[in-house]
Amino acid sequence: MKLKDIFDVIIQFGIQMDPRGEKEVKEQLKKTKKEFEALSEKDKKFFDMEKLVNPYSDSRIVFDNGKDVEGVLVGIDIDVAEILLAEKLKEKGKKIDAIISHHPVGRAYARFYDVMDMQADIFSIFGVPISAAEELTEKRKKEVGEKVMPANHYRAYDAAKLLEMSMLNTHTPSDNCVATFLQKKFERAKPQTLGDILDILLEEKEYSEYAKRGVPPVILNGDKKRKVKKVFVDMTGGTEGPKDIYMRLSNAGIDTVVGMHFSEEHKKAVQTANLNCVVAGHISSDTLGMNLILDEVEKKLGKLTIYETSGFIRVKRIEHKKSK
Ligand SMILES: [Fe+2]
Ligand SMILES: [Fe+2]
Repeated sequence: MKLKDIFDVIIQFGIQMDPRGEKEVKEQLKKTKKEFEALSEKDKKFFDMEKLVNPYSDSRIVFDNGKDVEGVLVGIDIDVAEILLAEKLKEKGKKIDAIISHHPVGRAYARFYDVMDMQADIFSIFGVPISAAEELTEKRKKEVGEKVMPANHYRAYDAAKLLEMSMLNTHTPSDNCVATFLQKKFERAKPQTLGDILDILLEEKEYSEYAKRGVPPVILNGDKKRKVKKVFVDMTGGTEGPKDIYMRLSNAGIDTVVGMHFSEEHKKAVQTANLNCVVAGHISSDTLGMNLILDEVEKKLGKLTIYETSGFIRVKRIEHKKSK
């Protein structure tokens, strides 16, 4: 299979698993097309054409040498070290044709925050008025954009290009998979307490393996006996959202948030809003999302030989369907 085919499957599945729903995502793509057409010729030169077909600014093909892909090195964070690791493994006889990263690299890293707009739509689905959701999300996006601006975004890209190593990254498409998968799982399982939430998470191998590695799901606010009625799985949309959203979510009837990680500031806001909060785990949750998307790639395009690195553990779910 070609790298481009893998990437296309990833984007399509990301859309299918998007918590906003496919229709909303496709509307957004149409809007982007109109915005592009309205640009001046001068501005069109700087427009990222990929945005016309791919709604996820944080997911891109980093480098494609055009060769067939059978073996891939998959990791949560890929930097120059992992690219050199791939070369070393090839020397040792492993067949590695490409690298798949979760966290953004290159252009996907430079503009990853553009994807945060989707958060406003997700908050509105959970009952926050769209006006408040958009205003808070816009402010937070600006803050994140300014923070990431000075980074050296193209470091790993440069290494991949010099070594002619095919590479792509899938961030929001994979995070959509884990967010939707867990949201539906909780809706089916109907946890009664925070203790039940921990047990439900630990049914998935990614969480039980990470529990053995010393990073289990934990309760950040509340305790095991606390009652649970309405859960919000907050795991996609680029990065942590606006902290003021928690009070809004609480007012909208949410009592429990389950996320990958929470900063000190976000933790305080969660406590002020009197929300129950479960930290499922960062790398374990990212790994689950990557596994769901790799299952889809293998289902559509055939078997891949997968080498695990940078926190990633391959867990195959032979039959995972988009649960409604
Ligand atoms: Fe992620
Ligand atoms: Fe992550």
